[in-house]
Amino acid sequence: MQDYIFILGRDPELSLLELASYFRARNMDFQIKETREKQHFSGHQNAGGVLSESETAVLISLPELDFAKIIKDLAGTVKIARVITNLDEEELYTGVSNKIKYAISSYDDSDIDELKEYLKKRMRQEKLKAVLKRSSREEAFLMPSDVVRHKLMGEGFEIVVYNNVIAKTVAVFNPYEYEKRDKERPLQRPLHMISIRLAKMLINLSGAKEKDVLLDPFCGYGILLQEAMLMGLDVIGIDKSRECSDASRKNLEFTAKKYMLQSRLKIFNDDSRRLSRFVIKVNAAATEPYMGPLLNKLPTKENALLAVKELSPLYEDVLKELSKSVSGNIAIIIPRFRLHTGERIKLNFERIIKEAGLKPVSIVPFMQFPVIYTAPDSKMEREVWVLAKA
Ligand SMILES: C[S@@+](CC[C@H](N)C(=O)[O-])C[C@H]1O[C@@H](n2cnc3c(N)ncnc32)[C@H](O)[C@@H]1O
Repeated sequence: MQDYIFILGRDPELSLLELASYFRARNMDFQIKETREKQHFSGHQNAGGVLSESETAVLISLPELDFAKIIKDLAGTVKIARVITNLDEEELYTGVSNKIKYAISSYDDSDIDELKEYLKKRMRQEKLKAVLKRSSREEAFLMPSDVVRHKLMGEGFEIVVYNNVIAKTVAVFNPYEYEKRDKERPLQRPLHMISIRLAKMLINLSGAKEKDVLLDPFCGYGILLQEAMLMGLDVIGIDKSRECSDASRKNLEFTAKKYMLQSRLKIFNDDSRRLSRFVIKVNAAATEPYMGPLLNKLPTKENALLAVKELSPLYEDVLKELSKSVSGNIAIIIPRFRLHTGERIKLNFERIIKEAGLKPVSIVPFMQFPVIYTAPDSKMEREVWVLAKA
């Protein structure tokens, strides 16, 4: 086992739950050693997104794994760096060219001047013409896009500093891949599509892994299922709109062909309130359901109450059905309506879960669902829940 620093992006709590769920689903041995914001993570009933920092890190003990694959699978981790125990003995650059680029990303307030000097000297000793790259945002750390753009992983290296620990980046999230997948999808419906990031987060929270069958009972244009297929899962989608079920089928067939995937896929044009009649058994479900009318401004109290009244019976019925057909976890989003007064209007989801014979899952002992997912520019707040049979 070795120590690794996982740098988490937006929504650090969800990101931590995501990676714990991912490792657990695959029986990977892991131990969360510390988080910089540990005081925030300790045993609170989180319903308000307590962590607001955009970058937070976690120290995890792990065996040697395929980190390039893991960072592609995870939505919430932006960098993985292996802790260096002896800097003098560490091979920093393994390429052949003598012209390299390197960077130091600090995720705490420690003074890195000494480290900078050390690296400069070391580059000289190793006869490398090394250029130090800096953050494009005047931060103490480089964004993943900076690391990718400067090709630091191939043509140099990055050192990460966190809680006085020094580590070397072994994998970095590539935001350009998401951009490419979003653009190349043959059928698009911009305002109604879940983001790739949230889709992957839900898949991983559901505990679904390679070869499992994952169900999205509100599949829309198939974004979530597309990501699931790229992770090697078999997928089933349901959408009551003919237009959506056709579009998701086309998008998924395109993905299967383009990436030469072996996944089995099935799409039903049907109502998820009766899904157990045609979907008998799946390993897991992950979904962003119908969330009520699209909001371009904060709703009035009256409209928020109306939306809740409309959504409650739908969620009641669908969760009861899901509890019959899903053997593992159900990762689901529910809306929470924020009024301009700051008041929140929400469903009585605890009751709905109970009546469906479900309960929230405990992924790590010090965190509980729901957890808020923040979507920039969204007028609606999203609560993320992970449920299993009670
Ligand atoms: C928020 S979208 C889902 C986004 C989708 N998960 C994606 O990956 O793009 C909600 C979808 O639920 C569908 N829907 C609404 N009520 C439904 C029901 N009772 N059964 C099945 N689908 C339903 C709508 O047609 C819509 O496409």
